[in-house]
Amino acid sequence: MNPVESEAREPGAVRPGRSVHIAGIGSYAPERVLTNQELEKMVDTTDEWIMTRSGIRERRIAAEGQSTSDLGAEAARAALADAGLGPGDVDLIIVATASPDMLFPSTACQLQHKLGARKVAAFDISAACSGFIYALEVGRQFVASGAHDTVLVVGADKLSSITDWTDRATCVLFGDAAGAVVLRHEPGRRGILSTLLGADGSQKEILNVPAGGSAMPATEQTVRDRMHCIRMSGREVFKLAVNAMLGAAREALAKSGLSLDEISCVIPHQANMRIIEAISDRLGIGMERFQVNLQQYGNTSAASIPVALDEAVKRGRIKRGDNVLLVAFGGGLTWGSAVLQW
Ligand code: ACO
Repeated sequence: MNPVESEAREPGAVRPGRSVHIAGIGSYAPERVLTNQELEKMVDTTDEWIMTRSGIRERRIAAEGQSTSDLGAEAARAALADAGLGPGDVDLIIVATASPDMLFPSTACQLQHKLGARKVAAFDISAACSGFIYALEVGRQFVASGAHDTVLVVGADKLSSITDWTDRATCVLFGDAAGAVVLRHEPGRRGILSTLLGADGSQKEILNVPAGGSAMPATEQTVRDRMHCIRMSGREVFKLAVNAMLGAAREALAKSGLSLDEISCVIPHQANMRIIEAISDRLGIGMERFQVNLQQYGNTSAASIPVALDEAVKRGRIKRGDNVLLVAFGGGLTWGSAVLQW
């Protein structure tokens, strides 16, 4: 960091303004379950390899015709119901996704229409698996500043639509789902205590979807070569993921003023059990304090954190007043962490 930057306000520090809390949460996963045993018949893999390398047993796959905005709309309805609100109460819609319905219009615009929300601003955020934490922080800023009162933040991905189903190194890892939260200010509730966001654009080669954008427009050849699908150097991503998540979690915690002992529950991005265990080990927070559901869902990208958070809340694992640590990393590379008081 150069001296000029170090004198500036710390990026990600929670500025004075209204406190912002999660007033409602919901999630959705499609019905169709794809098991490791089924994958054994599709590519040269085994249940044992997938379980030992990733911890994933099964994942959900969207139905024919079900797009990312459909998944997001289901989660959004559940989050609004949980907040005791309706679509007409929403002031702003933010959708984090790496698998948008189309290049444009945004998935958030599609979701606004499907939800029957008012004609309020709606836009997407692209930060792959860190997308939900990015969107949470952007939404928080709008509520904290007083610009908006009720912000709908959705993390939704239909990774099955950009998965190369002939590539055993990636197709066993991903799944489809969506999660959503409603952000509001309520006097006396602290809510989001701190956030930390970061990115390293030099690492795009280890995790990307090469074709279909302006850098490599779609051609018959790119389609034949499956270049509209996720490409990943798993081992490289693994190493960077652990360090990025550790750094983000430590910085968010330091900014929150809380100690590790005061965190009741950690909600990590659900990519790989071994990554989560490494974080647990190096952070010094036992696995019993981690919410892990990747066995059932695989890596659902931007949906992974809100889906796991919703489960932890619905199961009574997170109660009012508990401190919760969210931490993610994803393509970009991107990373993010947030500390909340529930
Ligand atoms: N079944 C059987 N064998 C396989 C499979 C499979 N499904 N996939 C790969 N292999 C083989 C490889 O070909 C390789 O064989 P070789 O040694 O003969 O060359 C061997 O298994 C080991 O492969 P590695 O990739 O080195 O295995 P590793 O232990 O690193 O595990 C994994 C792979 C699970 C992908 C791991 O690296 C990982 O989880 N990385 C992080 C990925 C991740 O978290 N991505 C999240 C971001 S996604 C996003 O942002 C959208």
